[in-house]
Amino acid sequence: MRLKVLGLAGSPRRQGNTELLLDQVLAGAASKGAQTEKVILSRMEIAPCKACDTCFETGRCVQQDDYQLLYPKLIKAERIILAAPLFFTGVPAQAKAFIDRCQCFWARKYVLKKPLPPTDTGLERQGFLISTAGGPKISFRCAVRAVKAFLDTLDAQYGGELSFPGVDEKGAILNHPTALEEAFVLGKNMGSGEKS
Ligand SMILES: Cc1cc2nc3c(=O)[nH]c(=O)nc-3n(C[C@H](O)[C@H](O)[C@H](O)COP(=O)(O)O)c2cc1C
Repeated sequence: MRLKVLGLAGSPRRQGNTELLLDQVLAGAASKGAQTEKVILSRMEIAPCKACDTCFETGRCVQQDDYQLLYPKLIKAERIILAAPLFFTGVPAQAKAFIDRCQCFWARKYVLKKPLPPTDTGLERQGFLISTAGGPKISFRCAVRAVKAFLDTLDAQYGGELSFPGVDEKGAILNHPTALEEAFVLGKNMGSGEKS
């Protein structure tokens, strides 16, 4: 049974810094035999959560848009990576809308007390943040907190982040001395089922 690694590209900028890093992580995971999938959140129609609370009764989101395609993928994946740059110290709207829609997982866990089924491999779920930011001394704390809260709804352990400040222009990450290699190694560790 192959380990499933789900990469969520959360920047509106295609082939930008975080997506380039995500590609490396997924390549590293694939090199260890993992089944990888990349989802471009900005290409999907994911409306914001309406706080209708229907999920408090059903555990599912009532809004019929592309989030419904992600729901089963989130349940199946053993490893989840959110790749998102800092926008105003948090994550971009596309990534935040996705995170907010995971309120249905929050409801399932904390209101309905209905645990997720185990993964196919039996491995625990684990998640990571990949991020870049233009500011040379910026803190990634706000984004990390949001991602940890999102992962908690899936009972996924936080495996850590790979974050690079001082990276602004599209493709600037390619000039970083170690970032791409670090991302590839993170993916390799993920793909081999090692816990970070
Ligand atoms: C709307 C917007 C808000 C941003 N806010 C911040 C910020 O608060 N702090 C920061 O250091 N960089 C900020 N940036 C810069 C991006 O984080 C940076 O360019 C990043 O490398 C972009 O990654 P990407 O190429 O994957 O989109 C912002 C960029 C945009 C477009």
